[in-house]
Amino acid sequence: MPNIANTKILGLGSYGPSRVVRNEDISKFVDTSDEWIQSRTGIMERRFASEDQSTSDLALEAAKIAILDASIQVEDIDLVIVATITPDMAFPSTACLLQHKLGLGKVACFDIEAACSGFLYAMDVADAMLCSNRYKKALVVGAEKMSSIMDWEDRTTCVLFGDGAGAAVLSKEGDGAELLGFYCGADGSNPSLLCQPAGGSSLPASKETITARKHYLSMNGREIFKSAVRVMESASRKLLEEHNISIDDVDHVIPHQANMRIVESLSNRLSIPMNKFYCNLDRFGNTSAASIPLALDEAQKSGKFQPGQIGLLVAFGAGLTWSSSLIRF
Ligand code: ACO
Repeated sequence: MPNIANTKILGLGSYGPSRVVRNEDISKFVDTSDEWIQSRTGIMERRFASEDQSTSDLALEAAKIAILDASIQVEDIDLVIVATITPDMAFPSTACLLQHKLGLGKVACFDIEAACSGFLYAMDVADAMLCSNRYKKALVVGAEKMSSIMDWEDRTTCVLFGDGAGAAVLSKEGDGAELLGFYCGADGSNPSLLCQPAGGSSLPASKETITARKHYLSMNGREIFKSAVRVMESASRKLLEEHNISIDDVDHVIPHQANMRIVESLSNRLSIPMNKFYCNLDRFGNTSAASIPLALDEAQKSGKFQPGQIGLLVAFGAGLTWSSSLIRF
């Protein structure tokens, strides 16, 4: 028998490290200013993990809160997916490390790497695996220690990112917001627009790659900006059309938290007013795969969502990748 019940979000959790870094703090070591950062991005401050905190530690904090919020026991979880581009190490996966830190049994664990679209990609995969009926409760986490790959000699990128984690417990059984559908896409034709050039099999770590600062995030901000607005609009429209939901029926938009100007352009292009968008990028910066679950958890816990309302989640990231999801709260 096909399982036709929609997957639900049983619980949410998020975690921002305690160290707050304001724009003024960054302007002390790179040639930038609070005025430039705020006017170009909307970011005022971000959180940075401590040196001894890795991505799996951030994921652990968010996961613990989501599990509590879901009113389940850790041992109920039988699938762990972590979306990240800043794994603790290339392998094993951060999901395996998280499993151990949570004290979970020997359940399926793996990472997804779709950059800032990663959390929605991971939700889509978890949803499909739950639909197979071979898994009952999935823990899906977006977690990043972006500060570990930022180039402090590149003012065009180091001002943009922050660290954090967000988590969701998904199941077909129980109560919670319903996942109505997903759309994920990618265009791998121009990877250098946003990448970490070295450390992989095409350019393994060497003295030369370190000297050339090729282990840090590298980005063509202007091109990414243009693509971001375009793909987030099309990913939103495609999913809404597929589900016969009109723009006016969307009550809340949780966009990837990269840049307030990108969000404002998206609002214009979709004709969805800004007061329907939830943004916390002013306080967290761009936390990549953590950005959507961090914002979703914060908005949910601040009482923004009423039962029956429709939420649109939409992201873009390195790849380029894009993803959208519709939720009924
Ligand atoms: N402080 C001061 N001046 C700066 C800074 C800075 N931090 N950074 C750049 N500038 C200067 C530039 O050098 C340039 O000076 P010039 O005109 O003398 O050459 C000027 O500011 C304008 O630079 P632009 O790059 O044109 O600035 P822009 O308005 O495009 O804003 C930004 C740059 C914020 C990066 C924007 O392009 C953007 O947000 N792009 C999207 C980035 C993004 O969302 N990335 C995340 C992808 S998600 C993922 O997968 C990780």
